Formats: sequence, C-alpha cells, structure tokens
Amino acid sequence: MADTIQTQNSVDQIEFPPLDPPPYHVGIIMDGNGRWAKQNNKSRFEGHKAGTENLRRILRSSVEFGVKMLTIYAFSTENWKRPPFEIMGLMKILENVIDKELDELNRNGVQLRHIGELERLRPVIRDKVLYAIDYTKNNDKLVLNVAFNYGGRDEIVHAVKKVIAEKIPPNEVTEEVLSRHMYTADCPDPDLIIRTSGEFRTSNFLIWQAAYAEYYITPTYWPDFDKGEYYKALQVFNQRDRRYGGRNE
Ligand code: FPP
Repeated sequence: MADTIQTQNSVDQIEFPPLDPPPYHVGIIMDGNGRWAKQNNKSRFEGHKAGTENLRRILRSSVEFGVKMLTIYAFSTENWKRPPFEIMGLMKILENVIDKELDELNRNGVQLRHIGELERLRPVIRDKVLYAIDYTKNNDKLVLNVAFNYGGRDEIVHAVKKVIAEKIPPNEVTEEVLSRHMYTADCPDPDLIIRTSGEFRTSNFLIWQAAYAEYYITPTYWPDFDKGEYYKALQVFNQRDRRYGGRNE
C-alpha cells in the first residue's frame, strides 16, 4: 500500500506510540465525500475518488496500529435512491479497486470480505467481488469487510429468513443463533464505530452488531480523515469505560 498512496500528508510519516490495546474491530461510516467535493470545487465523483484514496491511508494505518478487522460502509441499500450517474460511479470505484488494488492488498496481507446483498449488482462486478474474496482468503494481517449494498435492517430480515428456512424451532432462536445468520457470522462485534462529517446517526450500519460498540464522531469529512485523526479516535476509544450494561465498582 505504501507505494501507491497519492494523498500523502505529513501526518502519514509520523510514527505514533503503540496503542494499549488497539480495538480489534473498527467500523467506519465514511461520510462527507460530497461536502468535501463541494468545498474543494470538485464533482461528487471526484469526492468519492478522494474518499477511496483516503481508504488506502486508513488501511495502512490500521495495520500499523494493530487493528485486525475493519468494516467500511461503501454503499448502503438506501444509496440506490441516488442519481444513476452517482450510483454508476460508486460501482465503477468498487470494480477499479478490485482490478487495480487486489494484488497490492494481497501483498499486504489484507483479507477482503463482503457484507450485504450481491444479487442486485451487475454479474461482472459480483464475479469480481467473489474472486477477490477467494483470492485473499488466507491473508491474516487485516480483515477488510466491505459493506456494499448493505443495510442493517435488510441483514436482520435476511438472517430471520435463513433461520426459518432451516426450520430452527422458535424456542431455540437465541441472540447467538441470529448472530450466526448475519453476514458477519464469523466476525466479533465491532468495538468502535467511527463516523466522519459530523452526523449523529447510525444510518442502518451494523445495527445488530453495534449494540455495545463505542461511537466516535468527528466533523472532518472522510477524504480529510487522516492518520492523526484516526489515532486520536483510537486513543479516545481506549479511554472509554466499557461496561456492557454492567457496573464497575
Ligand atoms: C458518503 O458520502 C459516502 C458514500 C456513500 C460512499 C463511500 C465510498 C467511498 C469512500 C469509496 C470507497 C468505495 C469502495 C467500494 C471501496 P456522501 O456522498 O454521502 O457525502 P455527503 O453527505 O457530504 O454528500
């Protein structure tokens, strides 16, 4: 990843002290590409491209900081309401990332996974996603879950349908059973959810899994959310007192 970063800033060069401990699983709502574009007199597509560049930076920092799993919200089930041109642009970005970055991601030990519904995507994109998942399946430096055509409510409905199809009796349906039928079946729940661009909403992202996640919200637009801000978010997380509904004496 290091050699392909084009949006280097001086913070990228800084080595931060180790985090004790880093969160295992971080989810990111990468919001604000459109406002960043407007602020910089660019098109929305250029905003999404800048957001993709920033993703490289955050991937590299995740490995450096010891985060083992990253789930990114790249396209929600609600994003179909956007203009066709913008939807096409986001699809193209996903395709380009796989076409151009897969080898680099693989070399850096990134295991790509997908959460969401692949059915509605064009078969060529669907096949590329499945190929990328298979190609990187043995990597263990960082798991990157790409939430694409993902919605938390949709995921819960999908899980319930699977439970019914498997004829699991109602008295055997527990939280664990439902968790095992989510797209994230073999992932631990997220420890920290970061949302950029200042909105205080979950926007249907990991709503089942984030029951006890810590939230970190920053006004910074996603393309500007750099390594230093990321480190700060992880530090803030480390200072939180996680009680999971219990009480610390
Ligand atoms: C929200 O910003 C962002 C998105 C809907 C897309 C996020 C996608 C990327 C960062 C590209 C990476 C994608 C892949 C497939 C790896 P917004 O457009 O809602 O911003 P606004 O609220 O300022 O308009």
